Parts: sequence; C-alpha cells; structure tokens
Amino acid sequence: MTHRQETEVVADKAQQTAPKRKVFMRTYGCQMNVYDSERMNDVLGPQGYSATENLEDADLVILNTCHIREKAAEKVYSELGRIRKVKEERALSGKDMMVGVAGCVAQAEGEEISRRAPIVDLVFGPQSYHRLPKLLDEAKTGKKVVETEFDIDAKFEHLSEHAAKPVMKRPPAAFLTVQEGCDKFCTFCVVPYTRGAEVSRSVQQIVEEAERMAASGVREVTLLGQNVNAWHGEDADGKTWGLGRLLYRLSEIDGLDRLRYTTSHPRDMDDELIEAHRDLKTVMPYLHLPVQSGSDKILAAMNRKHTRDEYFRLIDRIRNAAPDIALSCDFIVGFPGETDQDFEDTMDLIRRVEYGSAFSFKYSQRPGTPGATMGDQVPEDVKSARLAELQELVAAQTKAFNASRLGMTCDVLLERKGRNPGQLVGKSPWLQAVQLDAPEELIGTIQAVEIVKIGSNSLFGRLNAGHHDLNGSSQDAIKEAAFDA
Ligand code: SAH
Ligand code: SF4
Ligand code: F3S
Repeated sequence: MTHRQETEVVADKAQQTAPKRKVFMRTYGCQMNVYDSERMNDVLGPQGYSATENLEDADLVILNTCHIREKAAEKVYSELGRIRKVKEERALSGKDMMVGVAGCVAQAEGEEISRRAPIVDLVFGPQSYHRLPKLLDEAKTGKKVVETEFDIDAKFEHLSEHAAKPVMKRPPAAFLTVQEGCDKFCTFCVVPYTRGAEVSRSVQQIVEEAERMAASGVREVTLLGQNVNAWHGEDADGKTWGLGRLLYRLSEIDGLDRLRYTTSHPRDMDDELIEAHRDLKTVMPYLHLPVQSGSDKILAAMNRKHTRDEYFRLIDRIRNAAPDIALSCDFIVGFPGETDQDFEDTMDLIRRVEYGSAFSFKYSQRPGTPGATMGDQVPEDVKSARLAELQELVAAQTKAFNASRLGMTCDVLLERKGRNPGQLVGKSPWLQAVQLDAPEELIGTIQAVEIVKIGSNSLFGRLNAGHHDLNGSSQDAIKEAAFDA
C-alpha cells in the first residue's frame, strides 16, 4: 500500500467518528486578528469542526472583522449580503448555516450588526473567543447572541489551555500575541475602544507558548500587540520585564531562530529593546515603527506625544545599533487641519528616513474618536492627491531598498510551496518574500540564498549550495555587505 492510500484510509476513519461540521473563517484587519482566528480554530476543533475554504460547504461562518477605517466595516456588511444568499440556498436543501461576526466591528457595533444584517446569529468581541462553544450552543436555541464583554485575562488563560493541546505541525512562521489593547488614544484611532485597555501576558505564559510552537516546528515567531513594545509582563517573582528582556529570554529557546515583533510605538522604544537588535542574531533586522505624520502640528493634534525631531533621534539610535535594519512605517494623509506645508513635512521625513516599505492611508473619520468631530476636515480629492504622491515616493524607496539586496547572500526561512512546481517561497531577514527553486523537504529550514533578481513584489534567489540550515549564522556577513554597499 502506498503512503498516499494509507493517509486516505486514516482520513476516512476520522471522518466516520467525528461529527462532520465545517467552519468557514474570514479574517480582516491586523495580524492580531489572524492570531485570534487561529485560536478560534483551536477552540472549534474539539467541537468537531474542521476548516473549509468553501462558503457553500460551511455549517458555521465566522467573519473576524476590522474597524480601523470606514471601508473595513463596509466590506463586512457587503460580505454578509453575499453570505445571506448562500444561507438561503442551503436552507432550500434543508441545511443550516450559523453566521457569527467577531472582531473589532463586533465589539464596536454590537447589536447594531444583527439589526442591520438579520442573518447574523451571533456577535462576539475579541475578548470572548474562549467562550465560543457556549455562545454557539446559545445561538442554536434560536436566540440572537451578542457578547461584547472586556475580560482579556480570562481570554488569554483559556486560549492558552486550548493551544496547549497537541496540535498539528504548524507552519514555520507563526504569530504570538503578547499584549492586547491600547491606552494611547491617538485621536484618529478606534483601537482603544474596540480592544480596550492595555493588557500584557505574563513571561511564563509567553515562554510556554513559544516553547510549544518551537516543539511543533515553528522557526520564526512574530510577537504581536497593538502596542507591542509597551508590553510589560511579570515574571514568576512578580518582577516586571520589558520587551527587550523578553527577546533575550525567547532567544534561548531551542529551534526558535527568528524573532520579530509588531506594532511598535516610537514612545516605547527603550534602550534594552534597541540593544536586543544590536546583540541578538535571532532578532530580525526589520522594524515597523509608525510615525503617521512628519508635521509637529499634526503629531500633536493626533495625540502621538512626540515630535519629528524626537523620531529622527530615535531612528539614529536604532540605526547605530543595527545598521542593516529595514524600517517600515504607517502614514495617514489628510488628518483634520493638514495643510500643504504639513504634508510637505511628512514627505521630507520620508526622504530623510528612507524606508524599506510603508503603508499609507487617507484619514477616515471614525465615529466616537476625537478626530471625527474636529474642524478643518480635508476634502477627499486633496487626500487622494496627497496619498498618490506619498505612495510614489515610498514605492521608489522600496524599489531602491530591494535593489540594494541584489547579489547578496542572505538567510531565507523557506515557508511554503510557490506557484510553480519546484518553487518555494520564503522570507528574507528584512521581511521580503523570496522565491527560489528548491526541494519541498527544505520547507521549515533556513538556507543561505543568493539574491539573483529583483521583482516588483518579491525577490528571486538561488540556493547557495553547501550552506544548509544556517540558524541565522550568516547575519554578520550580511551586516558587512550592508556596510560595503
Ligand atoms: N498600534 C499601531 C497602529 C494600529 S492601526 C500604531 O500605534 O501605530 C494601523 C494603522 O491604521 C495605523 O498606524 C494608522 O496608520 C491607520 N489608521 C488608524 N486609524 C485610522 C483612521 N481613522 N484613518 C486612516 N488610517 C487609520
Ligand atoms: Fe491606535 Fe494610537 Fe493605540 Fe496605535 S497607539 S492602536 S494608533 S491609539
Ligand atoms: Fe482592525 Fe481591530 Fe486590528 S480595528 S487593525 S482588527 S485591532
């Protein structure tokens, strides 16, 4: 019997014993939602659910939503319209379909969602995921369930329990939430309202989860938090650690070769964290450090609580410690009161910093945030013109940064199969996608790869024969190459 036939028999047996229920999960927004969706799957697995990519096959649909910009929420409502049709078709053939809305729109809009979209059976916020089986049972009785309590500690504790159960082999790169919520109240942002106040997980919880990940094949962990560098968890002795110290601790875990973290706030980049970039070869040379605007006036109106000069000084400190670091950023154009000069200040900041990549958005008024009711809202056409100009500048910087890698040999973590046969896709230390021809057995290993071509969205590489599974050990060579360039 071939290996393939054996697997089919095993799968058949499993299907006969477990109730056949399928869940279709769609995830919007930030990486924290991606992490949360994985944890919801962990909770649903023991309830007999397996994942499906086909909406038509789903007994349960969960939309894990984002509320950051107006368009994000509107997308959810139009998706619900599409789901309604499928649910009606399934009902014709006697099949049921439960529909749940999770995430930040659920938290912000609550009951309003089931009013606007009556097909929705349950609405539950980011802090209720561990209660999902109970909420599903309630919804099955025909009751409309709305759960938007804030109790992050309970969530972490229970989700950890589920994640502790033996899991399938995980992909080589994974997310790990260490901190949730935000106390900063930038005047444009809904996160402090949808995710609540800042909560940090304990050192022990994080280390245990990271160890489990490493044991199930994870080589790269990205620590997540809305304000990840504000993380301040307690150790077993009740002492408070900062993120830098946590990185040193996580670097000791066998098999965990790469660490990243996102998203950081400029105000919380302390010396220990910057030193971790200098000292630890596990800490990847990439940092997403949003500034939003380069104008002091707009920074103040946004309540970012730092100036452009302070940001420049911070960037200098970071680059002194880690000269080959790729910097990334978020920008908002057209915040209320932004003049041509303010926008020019942002463009000037971008020219001075030189980013490897950046995300940029037109300001969108979010109900309940101070920015929404400020005077001097910027007209839509002005925002569009500024966004186009900014994106052109950033695209040129990204192109230049990518081009500067040509001819270098760097470590690539091979993560999955590529589009073409024989091709794998991996990630460079600077978070660039790298495509190359390599055998499938190398998925999950770190290889020395020579960058031979620069594409528009990814780099193309060639396996550097003789160098196998380097564990980041060619980092020093890369640093030298970066200095020479
Ligand atoms: N915690 C992160 C950002 C979280 S939201 C930080 O402090 O930077 C991700 C990005 O969405 C933000 O950086 C911002 O650029 C953008 N964003 C948030 N609210 C927005 C709004 N009302 N309009 C446009 N962009 C917004
Ligand atoms: Fe939003 Fe500001 Fe908090 Fe980031 S720091 S999540 S932008 S309020
Ligand atoms: Fe969106 Fe919520 Fe993340 S609003 S960006 S999903 S924290």
